Amino acid sequence: MTVFHRLNIAAIERDTPDAVAVTFSVPDALREQYHYRPGQHLTLKASIQGENLRRCYSICSSPDENTLKIGVKAIYEGRFSNFINQHLTVGDSLEVMIPQGQFGYQPEPNTQAHYLAIAAGSGITPLLSIIKATLQTETKSHFVLIYGNRNSRSVMFKKSIADLKNRFAQRFQVLYLFSQEQQDSELLSGRISQQQLNALGKTLLNFQQFDRAFICGPESMMDEVHDTLINYGMPKEFVHTERFNTSGIKFKPTSALATETRQVSIHLDGRTMNISMDSQDDSILDAALRQGADLPYACKGGVCATCKCKLRAGEVEMGVNYSLEPDQISDGYILSCQSWPKGDGVVLDFDV
Ligand code: FES
Repeated sequence: MTVFHRLNIAAIERDTPDAVAVTFSVPDALREQYHYRPGQHLTLKASIQGENLRRCYSICSSPDENTLKIGVKAIYEGRFSNFINQHLTVGDSLEVMIPQGQFGYQPEPNTQAHYLAIAAGSGITPLLSIIKATLQTETKSHFVLIYGNRNSRSVMFKKSIADLKNRFAQRFQVLYLFSQEQQDSELLSGRISQQQLNALGKTLLNFQQFDRAFICGPESMMDEVHDTLINYGMPKEFVHTERFNTSGIKFKPTSALATETRQVSIHLDGRTMNISMDSQDDSILDAALRQGADLPYACKGGVCATCKCKLRAGEVEMGVNYSLEPDQISDGYILSCQSWPKGDGVVLDFDV
């Protein structure tokens, strides 16, 4: 259920000059609902300068810490992230959706494995949660983190990473790469790239040893790293990527260009609503919101899966999908923010 609750801000810690960690206070009555899997995110809702905005931010805490904390880096012209960095204070409250997201990993106490995390910038946020939870739960597993930043001042969660290194010295290795700060080793100078990973693979790391990898950062970096790891022989299903925003979300399926108005039925909260959609609408989600349906959504970019629903009848064409797994698609799930009806008779079920 993609519902929002108003949660108080329990703490705000300044992490870097342009990033903060925000801890929410979760009342006992909601604790169960806000239980999360390492790697998941929260969708926040707020009215900023008169506009209702939603944004997703990854959880950086791990479930065993018994806290709910996100990392938020202020981005250029990012209204929500700048609001959080500059104006939010302890004691304020925000509308917070219960944790969502397919990305992540649930550690198992009896598993013994080698994991790799590759992050750039604020991409560290969900990976930190996964690393903490895994090292804590799987007492024989190892983690290597490759973390790219412009320079040492822009490293997020430096102290948390150092604490983990102290606590799990034998099982946790960190390699910092800086693109705008000289390091002693050439291997660690520059952006994370195929070339840089190959150089690390010849010297410091054996990529064949990793059972599973987690990648989060800018899209171009993730694509390059993903392909490099596949080339090293990692099975695709064990290379997990988390996209914060996507540059390729403007693609529109040909069905979106249809000039006729299409009828779509929507099941939500036990009720059925009929909406009409024409070529002016960006997606079924947008058409439904325009007509008053309170459908769940966050990114509108095919990334978060908050808008997922089941196709009960008819046919749709989907734009980008960065969040649904192949088995979910075979089970009939679609992303309403990326779907257009191919004809009349489309029935979507959000109560699944
Ligand atoms: S709203 Fe995020 S995938 Fe549709």
